[in-house]
Amino acid sequence: MVKLSFLLLLGFFIAYGEGQALKVSASARGINIGCAYKNGGGPGTYNNTLSREFNGVVGENNMKWDGLQAVRGNFTFAGADAMVDFAQKNDMIVRGHTFVWHQQSGFVANMPAQATVQATRDTMFKVMKTHITTVMNRYKGKIYEWDIVNEAVARDSAGMRLGTGTSSSFWSLRTDAPNHNWDFVDSAYAYARQADPEAFLVYNDYDCEGMGKKSDLVYALVSRLKAKNLIDGIGLQCHFYVPGTSTGSNGAFVPSEMVANLKRLADLGLRISLTEIDFRVPTPPTSAHLAAQREAYETLLEICLANPNCKNFFLWGLNDGSSWIPNQYPGQGAPLLFDDSFNPKPAYIGLREVFQTPVAIRASRNGGRMLLSGKPWNEAFDLRGRALRALPAYSPFP
Ligand code: G3I
Repeated sequence: MVKLSFLLLLGFFIAYGEGQALKVSASARGINIGCAYKNGGGPGTYNNTLSREFNGVVGENNMKWDGLQAVRGNFTFAGADAMVDFAQKNDMIVRGHTFVWHQQSGFVANMPAQATVQATRDTMFKVMKTHITTVMNRYKGKIYEWDIVNEAVARDSAGMRLGTGTSSSFWSLRTDAPNHNWDFVDSAYAYARQADPEAFLVYNDYDCEGMGKKSDLVYALVSRLKAKNLIDGIGLQCHFYVPGTSTGSNGAFVPSEMVANLKRLADLGLRISLTEIDFRVPTPPTSAHLAAQREAYETLLEICLANPNCKNFFLWGLNDGSSWIPNQYPGQGAPLLFDDSFNPKPAYIGLREVFQTPVAIRASRNGGRMLLSGKPWNEAFDLRGRALRALPAYSPFP
């Protein structure tokens, strides 16, 4: 028995080299490190790797509307319960994801319009309240924070997802949102507050990590919710491509902009979670891709550690084989910390190194590596403690 334990330990050190599990060093730095949980992903290597390295989970699909109530009135908790049990047994926090979204919403996405706009609105609000109240009551005291509304903001001129078009939302359509100041958003948070006044409520979205139009719109939305005491935190998804390996508006990672955005969100009094991190690369990845991916992960973690309000660093999946990326972005993938066989990748080693090394020491050791570049800033400091020039002006959405 003793011999077996020794061999297992030896195997671990051969595979991972020196250093602590990520969750140990993350805790020492005052943040949580988690990842998206795939029901049926374990037991075995999946569960062992997950519980060894991470102290948080979030359901990749099991707490979405269609995972909990695909058919009206028929709640199915088995998947979410299994994840929450797993988390409790392994001393992990759980992020709750998500209630009001335009995807994976079961029956509620297909509810027909009724005789009047008012009747349709009333029904939508009724089912929303029932769903939020039922689920939050069941998991009361067990969820670290809840994504109440997910991805309600679009880049279109209205700022919010409309009822039709490429970025449509049935919530917007059926609640007649443009004529009611998108009150389905505020209502979702109000129902959540009523269901569990102790719960920590978050707005979660993507492509709003840096500065720019969508980020300004999200900033305006969470400002409004915060002013009404309906929100406590923000989730920045962080689905990025590794800089230099792709192009396009979706998923650009611009460190200097993120520093500025985190600062203004923290100034609002919001706790910040990085909720769905992945850095995709062309597949199969070259060693240069993996090195660049490591650098990107390191930079993102440094940004989080440098902002006291950034408390959660959650990956969108445990290993490359379980990532959503290849389905959505053919020819790209390998975005996570472990490969298909659960071996740690350079990005894993990089994160571990960042966690275990004080920022000042990293700065001097890395010498000329520029984390921040490009835009004019001030009232901010870069990760080396150097003063930056002016933050860009932003005009909150009216
Ligand atoms: O459950 C069905 C199963 O019954 C069926 O046999 C199978 C056949 O394809 O499909 C299963 O549903 C899939 C579901 O994941 C569960 O595996 C859906 O087709 C598939 O579209 C769905 O994808 C999820 C996607 O959200 C939906 O938009 C991904 O796993 C999930 O990673 C992804 O997560 C989202 C976040 O929630 C919000 N932010 C963006 C992120 C990436 O899109």
